[in-house]
Amino acid sequence: MCGILGYTGDHQASEILLSGLAKLEYRGYDSAGIAILDGDKIKVEKNKGRLQALEEKIKDRDVAGTCGIGHTRWATHGAPSDLNAHPIWSDDMTVVAVHNGIVENYRELKEKLSGHGYKFYSQTDTEAAVKLIDYYYKQEKDPMKALISAIKEIEGSYCFVVLFQDHPGEVWGVRKDLPLIAGQGEGESFLASDVSAILQYTKQVYYLDNMEIVQLNKGVVRFFDMDGYAKPKELSEVTWDAQAAEKGGFEHFMMKEIHEQARAVKDTFGAVYHSGAINLNEIGLTDDIIKSTSQIYIIACGSAYHVGAVAQYVIEDLAHIPVRIELASEFRYRNMPTDKNALAIIISQSGETADSLAAMRKAHEHGIKTLGIVNVVGSTIAREADSVFYTMAGPEISVATTKAYSAQLIACYVIAMQFAKVLGTIDDEKYESMLTEIQKLPEKIDAILDESGVLKRVAARFVNAKNAFYLGRNIDYAVAMEGSLKMKEISYLHSEAIAAGEMKHGPISLIEKGMLVAGIMTQSNLYQKIASNMLEAKSRGGYIFIVSTRGCEALKDEADFIFHIPETDEHFAASLAVIPLQLMGYYVAVARKLDVDKPRNLAKSVTVE
Ligand code: AGP
Ligand code: GLU
Repeated sequence: MCGILGYTGDHQASEILLSGLAKLEYRGYDSAGIAILDGDKIKVEKNKGRLQALEEKIKDRDVAGTCGIGHTRWATHGAPSDLNAHPIWSDDMTVVAVHNGIVENYRELKEKLSGHGYKFYSQTDTEAAVKLIDYYYKQEKDPMKALISAIKEIEGSYCFVVLFQDHPGEVWGVRKDLPLIAGQGEGESFLASDVSAILQYTKQVYYLDNMEIVQLNKGVVRFFDMDGYAKPKELSEVTWDAQAAEKGGFEHFMMKEIHEQARAVKDTFGAVYHSGAINLNEIGLTDDIIKSTSQIYIIACGSAYHVGAVAQYVIEDLAHIPVRIELASEFRYRNMPTDKNALAIIISQSGETADSLAAMRKAHEHGIKTLGIVNVVGSTIAREADSVFYTMAGPEISVATTKAYSAQLIACYVIAMQFAKVLGTIDDEKYESMLTEIQKLPEKIDAILDESGVLKRVAARFVNAKNAFYLGRNIDYAVAMEGSLKMKEISYLHSEAIAAGEMKHGPISLIEKGMLVAGIMTQSNLYQKIASNMLEAKSRGGYIFIVSTRGCEALKDEADFIFHIPETDEHFAASLAVIPLQLMGYYVAVARKLDVDKPRNLAKSVTVE
């Protein structure tokens, strides 16, 4: 989620760190900081805001030294602020570190460390980990042993790069589930979360494995396993250019983000799932509030609204509470009677969408409680909502949302499950089976991506197409809306999502020979209904493209193409069905040679009406 760097060599570390961080700023940009280990003194400079603000600030400061670490932050715990910016230090500055990711058990660690006299100055989860390393370092007096002991206790996905005050010229690192590479230069060495940051200095890199410890000295890189034994490792030569490297080797940010969805889903669930149970107290959904809620409004724009459309079906089915989905641009100007015991859920990746913000303020005027489902920490919606459920998608660069959409779905499923549990509308067995199933979604998303190459060939058929329909019923209709938007916003192929039962009331007149008609079939009680609608489209010449759950036999002989997704609890099917639809939009856009990440006329964050 953030950009991380480490350097030791003969050059001024601050210069190398700042130039490398500039390449990593796309990974996070709400704060930036560096720490320089100069002899046995550690100097830290950090602040809220872009890297440029840091550059300005340190112009006249003493940042001399040839060993250091740097960070551009994407806040997950604690708003962007000078104090929460990384590097984060231990009380006596013995240990100073930067961190990417989430320390899931930071509360428990803080409690333990408070018992040993540690004080906490930031709201970050990171500080608990840094102080844990410090705690073990004071006992073990050895960086590697301290790291090993701390890592054994830290839960979550993370990558740490650490300076120890009394180990001049050394940088230490360790990762789990998040990227960290080590670079080997002439008399200098590097650590970075992304090769793009160091490519101008070296193309010789090592890829770290999970739970592997790395030690940098000038031009020397060593690796150790969790028992402290040295590990031999092979050097690789990077063949990408710097631009490709920022995208992790993918041609576009959109494709990179599509591949980050499993992680976004896992981390978003992990944010509210502790010690085997979902806990929504922190996001303001206590059992009392759930019990007193008689109506839910879900308010959003674009893809976030489509998430709301899925959520409406899921919440109503599981928790039997009436849910209304509202386009923020409509809600803000509507004069409607509202229920004082309602909860308004505002969904927004950016947290800055003007219509969503205005609609949330209108809900407040009506005296309605608000909950933001927001990706960007410290954004306006996050600050003004009564409570916030942060999705853990990390920075999304591509204008067409993919991983934020997937993370928002998870937040909605979790809310639906908790309402149902607290209101007693599902039994324990159902709840437990949903808990098991929601945790399998990341691996199923990755399995779909592994099998998705075939979609490129199918998409090529539609490179000159003019129109497309996406059909579904119930949750599948909500997914159709998102699939259709993905197609139109990046490939400029006119496309409409239609509740399949509505076809016969008008839209069917538009079907022409070869037109893409996509049908989503994940709800077993509706397989036959949607199959009939698809056959009506086929008999008028449509190209029948089906996304269905494995095991659905309907249309197996009639469809032109079927993409199977793994079975899951049908309430969660949107999370899987959307993946091939995102890819169809992507591949058609690529085949048309369009600027996938920056489609015409669109902006990532719509801060105007
Ligand atoms: C989706 O791909 C679009 N970029 C757009 O519809 C987006 O979802 C919408 O503008 C809402 O943005 P938000 O989530 O930042 O509020
Ligand atoms: N969880 C840490 C924080 O909020 C690190 C976030 C990041 O990866 O930038 O400070």
